[in-house]
Amino acid sequence: METISVLQRIRYEYKPKLPKALSGDINNISAESGENTEPVDNKAEIKAIFENTCGMPIVTFKEGINKKSDKINNAGVVLSGGQAPGGHNVIAGIFDCLKKSNKNSKLFGFLGGPSGITDDKVIEITDKFMDEYRNTGGFDIIGSGRKKLEKEDQFDKCIEVCKKRSINAIVIIGGDDSNTNAALLAEYFKKKKSDIQVIGVPKTIDGDLKNNMVEASFGFDTATNTYSELIGNICRDAKSAKKYWHFIKLMGRSASHICLECALQTQPNFSIISEDVSENQQSLNEIVEDIVKVIVARSDNKENFGIVLVPEGLIEFIPEINKLIAELNVILAENEKYFSTLRTYEDQSEWINQKLSKDASYTFSSLPFDIQKQLLMDRDPHGNVQVSRIETEELLIELIESRLNEMKSNDQFKGKFATQHHFLGYEGRCAFPSNFDADYAYSLGFTASLLIINGFTGYMSCVENLSKSSEEWISHGIPITMMMNLEQRHGKLKPVIKKALVDLEGKPFKMFKNKREKWAIQTSYTYPGAIQYFGPDEVCNKPTKTIIFEHE
Ligand code: FBP
Repeated sequence: METISVLQRIRYEYKPKLPKALSGDINNISAESGENTEPVDNKAEIKAIFENTCGMPIVTFKEGINKKSDKINNAGVVLSGGQAPGGHNVIAGIFDCLKKSNKNSKLFGFLGGPSGITDDKVIEITDKFMDEYRNTGGFDIIGSGRKKLEKEDQFDKCIEVCKKRSINAIVIIGGDDSNTNAALLAEYFKKKKSDIQVIGVPKTIDGDLKNNMVEASFGFDTATNTYSELIGNICRDAKSAKKYWHFIKLMGRSASHICLECALQTQPNFSIISEDVSENQQSLNEIVEDIVKVIVARSDNKENFGIVLVPEGLIEFIPEINKLIAELNVILAENEKYFSTLRTYEDQSEWINQKLSKDASYTFSSLPFDIQKQLLMDRDPHGNVQVSRIETEELLIELIESRLNEMKSNDQFKGKFATQHHFLGYEGRCAFPSNFDADYAYSLGFTASLLIINGFTGYMSCVENLSKSSEEWISHGIPITMMMNLEQRHGKLKPVIKKALVDLEGKPFKMFKNKREKWAIQTSYTYPGAIQYFGPDEVCNKPTKTIIFEHE
């Protein structure tokens, strides 16, 4: 019996592709600094917080002589937050570049996420160990965690652990919150005159860590291709059996990038885009009415089946629920200790109802009991509602069912409405990275090491031109402060990387908007099938539709 799958064995041999400028001799990659940068918003406040690291220039890696590239560097890498396909390849890219630059350089892995730094849980990543994880999914090489490092004593502990282990650079592979942490750490180290460098790498399946310079986070490609395969399969089942409406909730936190990409790939009957709901100030009832109209119209065509995609963050974008969540966040943050003493849900809801404004209390009470409970659950360490635990797809089914029953009793609906619900999230986070993610993640890791080798800190590793072949990709370092603004967290204004929501003026959404009415009524499903690792370029080396449309 084999201990690893045949695909895993064969994927070990895959050689990730690098941008042309990085694929030659390591001594022939130079760092070119561009113009100085400034924060995206709240400029004065961000500059005051990041006195030492705000305003640095963008760096581009090009072919050219580099005198610094043979220095010994000892880096420590940490995986932060939810799994995303390609994490192992980022580490492989960091490792290979460090070793190419000087074979005596070392890479250490902090175990179990950011707490691995402060708890001094470290392993050295060796050649043999690294080889067991190349081109594989998962974060199991060193594990991940959601611990937030924010206090000065934690930062001091990081300095102590790095000094003890002679680590001169930390690479944080994470989402917007973790990269915000990277910037804070870099600033603190500078302030304390420590020369430990900090570099961030954009990770998240959610696709919400992007801006003018960061075209995508790694993991989005593989995750959306995995979900689209599954959605396509469900579409075909629905069209074959003709008996169910499938409600499919998709991960992605606040942003609906995953939902939009999967809609473009599979053409379902109804896809909710949270940003669109918020723009049109649609209430929960209006969303329900819109879906009901489609169900009735399809039923008139004898098609009592369909597919509805629901982004997991929807609930936060429905205006009345958004106001409720904002009030709950402040109340729960300010009364955390007292709230934890309330043992039963009845006590919690009675107390919360007294604290909420009249409108918010009305919204809260009108929600089904389970959803009320889910809204009161713990926030994550960054203060976010844990939207993946809120069963929005079931809430919609419940409300639609009751509306259709009402219409049935008035003879306004004569069809059938039988449902299935699904939640796609974890299924896509640890898939074998697609060739795109394998190459992209490896290039990001390689770039992170180049930033270290060239002495930069407070930068995010970045690779652009992703709609083109990897040869034409361009490798950069972007000052993290450039992406920052102030936002409310745990009831306080904090510097954070601005989350990228779906741009309603962008091409991907416009393409979807042009087609959605047709897809609603005429069954127009497309079936992308499984991710292909071998075969023609058009099936195995393509970027997402989001990237393609954004660059058309
Ligand atoms: P990151 O933001 O850390 O990349 O995590 C993404 C994500 O997969 C979200 O889509 C989802 O809401 C969340 O993680 C689930 O968190 P957990 O893994 O803690 O259940």
